[in-house]
Amino acid sequence: MRRCISLALNAEGRTYPNPMVGAVIVYNDRIIGEGWHHKAGQPHAEVNAVNSVLIPDRKFLPASTIYVSLEPCAHYGKTPPCAELIIRTHFRRVVVGCKDSFKEVSGKGIDMIRRAGIEVKVSVLEEQCRHLNRRFFAMQELARPYITLKWAETADGFIGMRVGDDPVPVNISDSVCRSFAHHLRHTEQAILVGVSTVVADNPSLNTRYWTGNSPRIFVIDPHSRCPQNAKIFFASIPPTLFVDKSTKTSGTDKVPIDFSSPDSLSEVVKHIASLGLQSVLVEGGAFTLSRFIEAGLYDEIHVFKSAELLGDGIKAPTIPHATLLSDERVGNCRLMKWKKL
Ligand SMILES: NC(=O)c1ccc[n+]([C@@H]2O[C@H](COP(=O)([O-])OP(=O)(O)OC[C@H]3O[C@@H](n4cnc5c(N)ncnc54)[C@H](OP(=O)(O)O)[C@@H]3O)[C@@H](O)[C@H]2O)c1
Repeated sequence: MRRCISLALNAEGRTYPNPMVGAVIVYNDRIIGEGWHHKAGQPHAEVNAVNSVLIPDRKFLPASTIYVSLEPCAHYGKTPPCAELIIRTHFRRVVVGCKDSFKEVSGKGIDMIRRAGIEVKVSVLEEQCRHLNRRFFAMQELARPYITLKWAETADGFIGMRVGDDPVPVNISDSVCRSFAHHLRHTEQAILVGVSTVVADNPSLNTRYWTGNSPRIFVIDPHSRCPQNAKIFFASIPPTLFVDKSTKTSGTDKVPIDFSSPDSLSEVVKHIASLGLQSVLVEGGAFTLSRFIEAGLYDEIHVFKSAELLGDGIKAPTIPHATLLSDERVGNCRLMKWKKL
């Protein structure tokens, strides 16, 4: 199952809106086939695994076990159901990492295979398999995108500087951290910042220091302060600005929100979900991140902590009670990741 997960990760960030899935076929303790789902519309992991089996090994298929990180599908989508392929191949045994919560599949794939008389074992490395598709499951089960909050802070807990009342940018992390951060951007479908970050930093918010997709850009800009010549407006899909409904600003790229309501951030997140985007990376600044933390609207928090001291500036958000997932050295920083309790 660990091999299934690492195969699935070959397509990290590329299977949207589908989940990442890996499959391994084992005969007599020997892997005779393996595959993963590369891209939506293309064959599923099980099909690629079966097709990878060499002709001399084909005769072993009915005596083999197929391991698959996610429940095989039971419905006709862009491709025929994998449960049917498994039944037709007549595997001896099927081992499933975790159930699919997509209503067209959930439990149906497993039932179909069992009814055909094939032994099915479910929930092997279930937590890891669910973590692999955390973005997909958040959308299916919570009807909202998976939310990751990310920032870089100095050893004395600042994320930026102020000159007078104006926030100004500082470089806290180095180029290695930047590549890590851009890898994260590639795996997320949306990126969101507060308007003061656009005003102070004029960021591009795209994926430049990693090969991959750039997330769709969203800015919380209640009072329409976003400069019209900001770099974000050069993105291939124009950014969406969340403006306060009282400003009566309109346009296809503007979404009115009642920012006086305690549910304003839920509305923001609901809008992102309505576009089918399964994950959002909130990259700052401190004000915006703190509002997401207060609203309990986050799943993971990633903090790059450098050894440098700033002495004064914009305080980094306070980390809420959360489970530390990892703590590693990356470039000039410690990268700490937390998961919501
Ligand atoms: N180190 C890092 O990782 C990092 C990352 C990003 C930014 N930064 C730095 O952070 C600084 C900017 O941070 P910041 O905390 O001052 O500002 P910010 O979070 O970027 O933007 C705050 C503004 O966004 C609007 N806003 C955001 N969330 C809102 C909500 N829930 N409800 C209503 N309005 C909301 C408000 O705009 P209005 O005032 O118009 O109402 C608010 O004043 C810059 O210096 C930047 O360089 C550092």
